[in-house]
Amino acid sequence: MARSRTPLAAVVLAAGKGTRMKSRTAKVLHEAGGRPLAWYAVKRALDAGASPVVVVVGHQAEAVEAALVASLPGAPLRFAVQETQLGTAHAVLAARRALRGHDGPVAILSGDVPLLETATLLNVVKARARARAPLAFATMALDAPRGYGRVVRDAGGRPARIVEERDATDAEKAICEVNAGLYCADATFLWKGLAKVDADNAQEEFYLTDLVAIAARRDGAVAVDVPPEEASGVNDREELARAAKVLLRRRARALMRAGVTIEDPERFDCDEGVEVGPDTIVEPGARLLGRTRVGAACHIGAGVILRDAVLAPRVTVRPYTVVEEATIGARAILGPFSRVRPGSEIGEEAHVGNFVETKKTVLGKGAKANHLAYLGDAFVGAGANVGAGTITCNYDGERKHPTRIGAGAFVGSDSILVAPVEIGDRAYVAAGSVITEAVPAGALALGRARQVTKEGWVDRRNAERAKRASRPGPGAPGQGRAPARQAG
Ligand code: UD1
Ligand code: MG
Repeated sequence: MARSRTPLAAVVLAAGKGTRMKSRTAKVLHEAGGRPLAWYAVKRALDAGASPVVVVVGHQAEAVEAALVASLPGAPLRFAVQETQLGTAHAVLAARRALRGHDGPVAILSGDVPLLETATLLNVVKARARARAPLAFATMALDAPRGYGRVVRDAGGRPARIVEERDATDAEKAICEVNAGLYCADATFLWKGLAKVDADNAQEEFYLTDLVAIAARRDGAVAVDVPPEEASGVNDREELARAAKVLLRRRARALMRAGVTIEDPERFDCDEGVEVGPDTIVEPGARLLGRTRVGAACHIGAGVILRDAVLAPRVTVRPYTVVEEATIGARAILGPFSRVRPGSEIGEEAHVGNFVETKKTVLGKGAKANHLAYLGDAFVGAGANVGAGTITCNYDGERKHPTRIGAGAFVGSDSILVAPVEIGDRAYVAAGSVITEAVPAGALALGRARQVTKEGWVDRRNAERAKRASRPGPGAPGQGRAPARQAG
């Protein structure tokens, strides 16, 4: 990663409440792509080589700090608290102690601008170094500049100052070049300049933007043109959704460039940091979330949800299957409509079919549970076959108990395995059994009532009915009780 000669430090402003979000949660904690909003600015600063990155926190400071530390373990992060939000200049001053001893350039980013690319940040850093200026800042040209600070230039075309919308004259409001809110300042200039900023303006806040006029009076401030798409901030839920969409489009593009087929990128969802191997095909509507890693040449069906799932190569996940906190072995086939819950380890070439639920269950190589089953706290050996409707009764109302099904075992349809219980290797369980005791290896267990068959029963019943109907009596015909009834 390119670096300026002196090491770069960064400050990310993330203390504001974000009133327009209409939320009890601080704005920078709202998520896009599975990350808190502030994560993006912090990550770009880290990717640009900044160390340390000081995050200025205020509203829900502890939660913001916890969220960033958890998602960026080991990163050179520091946190500075701005108790009351008196403006952007005041916010940067809050970071001063955390930057003691640093006398190189300091990049300043907003925590609510998630679309900024690292290359753009580096452009601003380099522009300042190249011009040997005390300050560089990013500007963009907008057709509708409302809400942004306007860049006022002097007769020679050099940036003279920034005027905030609420302090601007009508002529200044007509300026379309706006402050994008990204800066790089020389540390010595920064602290000296900030000491001169006052709150003599319409909002009675300490504006960071006043630094431009202070720099202009000395060696000048450098304005760097940046793409508006990257610099637009998130202030409300609509902008949050729009930014999330742009971030997602970027991730989809990166995956496709790396060899992943995404059948419809407009109907694809994928969190930041999710890995997908080449030649994997993702059908429309799939969601790859959290710390999910998908191997090469997998096939992910329509509507599949993977959260914190790890898939080996060549796994097929058929439509509408949900996999959470589970690992899936190579060439396994899941779904359609399977639910693989936390702690499941599905072995190589194993099958988990429709309406099969697994929880904390290990399925050995080539084991199959193809239809309508619940396997909880179970160990299923290699090559075992679990019939349709099989249920492990793992819960006694107080505690969970394990079920062990041996390698090559065959569990007949609609069996109930009352845990703790063990089915030996190659053993058979007859369909419809309730198994409460261990079945030894190679044995057959039948745990159900023996069938009773009554020959000619239907004819006998019909004859009896006819006899009753022909007998004169007080009741209406056909009132006699049948000896047996069919369900349904
Ligand atoms: C700011 C700029 C404006 C620029 C715009 C670009 C100032 C005075 N104005 O306006 O010129 O066009 O960004 O997006 O800087 N924050 C704190 N503590 C505070 C105040 C703000 O941490 O006391 C943080 C906010 O959480 C936010 C960032 O600083 O992440 C920007 O503050 P915001 O109030 O959104 O400034 P804008 O009005 O957007
Ligand atoms: Mg803003």
